[in-house]
Amino acid sequence: MSWFSTSTRHRRLATSLTGLSAGVGMVVMSLVVSPAAHAAGSTLGAAASGSGRYFGTAVASGRLGDATYAGILDREFNMITPENEMKWDTIEPSRGSFNFGPGDSIVSHASAHGQRMRGHTLVWHSQLPSWVSSISDANTLRSVMDNHITTEMTHYKGKIYAWDVVNEAFADGSTQHRSSVFQNVLGNGFIEEAFRTARAADSSAKLCYNDYNIENWSDAKTQGVYAMVKDFKSRGVPIDCVGFQSHFGTGGPPASFQTTLSNFAALGVDVQLTELDIAQAGTTAYANTVNDCLAVSRCTGITVWGIRDSDSWRSSDSPLLFDSSGNKKPAYSAVLSALNSVSGGTTGGTTTTGGTTTGGTTTGGTTTGGTTTSGTTTTGGTTTGGTSGGCTATYSTVNSWSGGFQGEVKVTAGSAAVNGWTVHWTLGNGQSISQVWNGTLSTSGSNVTVQNVSYNGSLQPSGSTTFGFLANGAASSPTLTCTSS
Ligand code: XIL
Repeated sequence: MSWFSTSTRHRRLATSLTGLSAGVGMVVMSLVVSPAAHAAGSTLGAAASGSGRYFGTAVASGRLGDATYAGILDREFNMITPENEMKWDTIEPSRGSFNFGPGDSIVSHASAHGQRMRGHTLVWHSQLPSWVSSISDANTLRSVMDNHITTEMTHYKGKIYAWDVVNEAFADGSTQHRSSVFQNVLGNGFIEEAFRTARAADSSAKLCYNDYNIENWSDAKTQGVYAMVKDFKSRGVPIDCVGFQSHFGTGGPPASFQTTLSNFAALGVDVQLTELDIAQAGTTAYANTVNDCLAVSRCTGITVWGIRDSDSWRSSDSPLLFDSSGNKKPAYSAVLSALNSVSGGTTGGTTTTGGTTTGGTTTGGTTTGGTTTSGTTTTGGTTTGGTSGGCTATYSTVNSWSGGFQGEVKVTAGSAAVNGWTVHWTLGNGQSISQVWNGTLSTSGSNVTVQNVSYNGSLQPSGSTTFGFLANGAASSPTLTCTSS
């Protein structure tokens, strides 16, 4: 075992999961879902594939000989992440000496059972052998890191759907990278270096950045990772996906998780839930998590971090979908029916409507910057656009804080299909818009116009999509006008 200690990790996780104080308002959202357009899946993998997604689990090679374990694995899951077998301490325990055996055994199991693989993980400060962490010369470390990435990815070329190229590089409660040998010796550029090296090694694998405690949109760590991905996309650094580990406390995901997923997706990356487990496995907590993914078209799949509670790295929290005997828990049924409730394939998927604000507590992250979640207000829009049915726009405040807020607008087609839409409103005193996603902004004085982007202009009769924005000033409830073409 490396210097990483599971018990230390547990303590840190427990601390971070309970870090958010009570009294933060929780927005209760009702979900509108389209009727399933496909036969309901009777397993997690089949149900997820109904909307083009995968459902995976972490697998430990040492358990593959356990018939109950392997039986559930092959019945329910169509994506596998090796729990430890592709980490540096197993793959390259001493310099230049590679040990692919345990990883290979999982890859052969997957290929024999038609399962795809996520590769986990190439560059991480944890489960890192001491011969790497003691390197202090930048040229040596760069060549060691690049050789590790290239050799491991070349060995598994063609067998891995997505790689977690860099894992957990950001510090908790901060927008900055954490201290690690890579950061300390190579500097901020090590992440970019790793992604460029990875693309050169296997141009067909998706390249992901993976982290925990980046699920709550207002957390500094989330904002730090978001800024990195935005920067990478703007400079052409190869990155295809962001993995949200999703190790949650009993409350499940933060209220803003769907917002976080769609904001990252709007940067042009896939998003995935990569290590999901929830203390006590509450049905609502699990269903909310799955629905947050299903609501975002680029949320391409969900992986739970183990099969039975007894297999979990947090086994004392009983956080998984199967009990220690391999029986389905209530959370299993909640997940299965959530997966079966979408038709998928379109942008948006489920959207929020209504908006009731209740008091409550939110768990699952730390809050920084004084951000609180506010109630959702929805204002009805005006239907225009002539005889063909037009469109309607409704506004909700997703989040607000001192000096700013985040809004979401849902655009819904009338009785006829729409090929493009434009939403107008007038800003209130002191309001200005700093960012829009899933739409193109133009402003003239206080007049705001947002038009569809290429991928969300076409709506079926009664179909809908959403765009979001960040604004300065105090939140208000604007009257929106929607015009269709
Ligand atoms: C965990 C494994 O589940 C344990 O078996 C191991 O002892 C420690 O690592 N974030 C990650 C995963 O990216 O690799 C970790 O897996 C859990 C936290």
